[in-house]
Amino acid sequence: MKILVTGGCGFIGSHTVCELLDNDYEVVIIDNLSNSKIEVIDKIKRITNKEVYFYEGNVQDKDLLQRIFKENTIDGVIHFAGLKAVGESVKVPLMYYCNNIDSTLTLLEVMSECNCKNIVFSSSATVYGVQDTPKYVETMDRGKSSSPYGETKAIIEKILEDLYTSDPTFKITILRYFNPVGAHKSGLIGENPNGIPNNLMPYILKVAVHELPELTIFGNDYDTPDGTCIRDYIHVVDLAKGHIKALEHAHNHEPNIYTYNLGSGHGVSVGEMVTAFEKANNLKLNYKYGARREGDLPEYYADPSKALRELGWKTEESLEDMCKDSYHFITMEKGE
Ligand code: WQD
Repeated sequence: MKILVTGGCGFIGSHTVCELLDNDYEVVIIDNLSNSKIEVIDKIKRITNKEVYFYEGNVQDKDLLQRIFKENTIDGVIHFAGLKAVGESVKVPLMYYCNNIDSTLTLLEVMSECNCKNIVFSSSATVYGVQDTPKYVETMDRGKSSSPYGETKAIIEKILEDLYTSDPTFKITILRYFNPVGAHKSGLIGENPNGIPNNLMPYILKVAVHELPELTIFGNDYDTPDGTCIRDYIHVVDLAKGHIKALEHAHNHEPNIYTYNLGSGHGVSVGEMVTAFEKANNLKLNYKYGARREGDLPEYYADPSKALRELGWKTEESLEDMCKDSYHFITMEKGE
């Protein structure tokens, strides 16, 4: 089977491409390299010893998409491509709504035209917004996300629901990621965003390799055991494997729309992550406590039982693996 992976050079996309190739899928990538590097293609080939088809361009480019579907028999699509910086989305919401939603609408139009009716969508736990309980389950209604980025994910989920209602021959799988961290065991691919990272682990990594002087922990006065926010961190390789399970599930089941949490089911605080990172890599991190970050929720984590029950998927990598693999990648990147 041949799978089109939009955003396949990105952090989660590249790890998923490796898992697809290791599971004998053929892979076509479309990526505009706005938040990734062309070198990732070669690294994917080094990791898997497999070839991958690559088209540079935007998913909004209908002509390019139609060419891809004409030149390849696409059996399914995994749709990662999109802008994902929460803070940036608050500053330039129109760019986020236009990019993330236009690209998805174009993709779905071309898929329908080409009778390709199998899509796995990269969504986010942020669509839950604020709930009465920190343990999020798929039966909950979507809430108000804390950013335009999160709202684009919620809107796209609604678009997919309406598409299925209009055309029940579609197989649609929505995967709600919690907090992806870690890197491939080879150290060849991982997350190393340009500029000052917004997310915790990339920031920790820049401090660990002395590219940034100090981590600021945003708030230690929350109603949690150590006063810092609690999140559900998931190793990116576990996340990638969840996509393979989603494709297999869709292949073996009737058309429908399926939604799954991809998380560990365990909450880890910022303080615990810092301590785990120091212990796993035998180093000390410079950090201080600062003010709370606007929009942060004190605590949320996944109820991952539906993914285990229906996909046969659960996380296998530990917090120590996440910390070790992330650090291994960043030191390889820096040539240390
Ligand atoms: C985690 C915790 C921060 C940086 C976001 C998106 C979500 C998903 C994952 C895409 C929080 C604290 C962080 C720092 C800190 N992305 N922190 N100092 O906000 O849980 O989720 O990324 O789908 O949609 O919302 O992740 O890594 O930014 O923050 O103390 O320098 O680390 O306050 O408590 P978040 P994060």
